[in-house]
Amino acid sequence: MLDIEPAAPPSTLKEPWGEPPMGMLAELTHRCPLQCPYCSNPVELERVAGELDAAAWKRVFAEAVELGVLQLHLSGGEPTVRKDLEDLVGEASRLGLYTNLITSGVLLSEARLLDLKRAGLDHIQLSLQGATALTGDRIGHYKGGHAKKLELAKAIGRAGLPLTINAVVHRQNLDELEGLIDLALACDAHRIEVAHVQYYGWALANRAALMPTRAQLERATAIVDDARVRHAGRLMVDYVIPDYYAKRPKPCMGGWARTVLNVTPSGAVLPCHAAQSIKSLTFPNVQDHDLAWIWQSSEPFQRFRGTDWMPEPCRSCSFKEQDFGGCRCQAMALTGDAANTDPACEFSPFHDLLRLTAEDEAASEPPAFTYRRPLANAPAMGTPGLVG
Ligand code: FES
Repeated sequence: MLDIEPAAPPSTLKEPWGEPPMGMLAELTHRCPLQCPYCSNPVELERVAGELDAAAWKRVFAEAVELGVLQLHLSGGEPTVRKDLEDLVGEASRLGLYTNLITSGVLLSEARLLDLKRAGLDHIQLSLQGATALTGDRIGHYKGGHAKKLELAKAIGRAGLPLTINAVVHRQNLDELEGLIDLALACDAHRIEVAHVQYYGWALANRAALMPTRAQLERATAIVDDARVRHAGRLMVDYVIPDYYAKRPKPCMGGWARTVLNVTPSGAVLPCHAAQSIKSLTFPNVQDHDLAWIWQSSEPFQRFRGTDWMPEPCRSCSFKEQDFGGCRCQAMALTGDAANTDPACEFSPFHDLLRLTAEDEAASEPPAFTYRRPLANAPAMGTPGLVG
């Protein structure tokens, strides 16, 4: 076991945080027709019976506006399984929130899309799992899904709604990256987010099946660089590289509880979608507390804010105000302690182990996917960290 200096104990006497969050991610449900092996929802999915109803969500939206939130991201699971989505979009729009729907697209008809636009929807993010039906349907585990997505993309163009394509990439679809960019252009998307899988939750359980080789990563980076030049002014290409091959960690979420908050289907409020993997923290719920108190003063939001909590090597690092020590959930998943430096950082004592793990897994035959299963059926997955 590596010798790590213990983290500072959590402060319970911090001043309330004065900055408002810019955005709120509302996970309206964990229900989803797709079964992507890198799903960002937790392994323990929340059940439909526990979902907040429309009245509760509307109160949360109003509290968010009061707190200073400007952008509302309606997500899931698949948010279009909610029959009250138009009602929720309408209320959010009436409150002055910029509304963004994050969808797989396979359940959304053109008629309903137009209803959502009439209700005030401002923007859509549509996921593609591959550039071909063969790959897309296999990864999403949903027959005919790719074709439905492309139909919806055309309907979004006809409706005049701005579109971003979300393309999560990994070793089993990276060879289609140029095709994904071409599809985004064909769909008149104004932006494509090419994001290498981040390994939390379901993705961590499928890491060996998803980890790209370094050669794949380098080729993908060259394709993105080229696309940014060739399509400048027409298509914005955002790019998230895989942590396991990085030298510097990403400032996950822009720093813990600094710019966004996340509300789960049952109303738990989190600084990020994976925060419940940190079992030492108990997250407050909108059914018990006001959103402002949760954001400004609650213990889990204060726990990793700023830099006071940091142990070495972060504490004396000149990058600490830029990367905030990386990702707390990744530190938890890979080292067993959320206060450790993210192993993606080259100064972490776990960093070499992380790189070797990536190289080993990428060089091996990929195992079969453990698909995300509907609620009752979550597998008892071993999560492959680095220690323990
Ligand atoms: Fe939770 Fe990075 S996903 S801090």
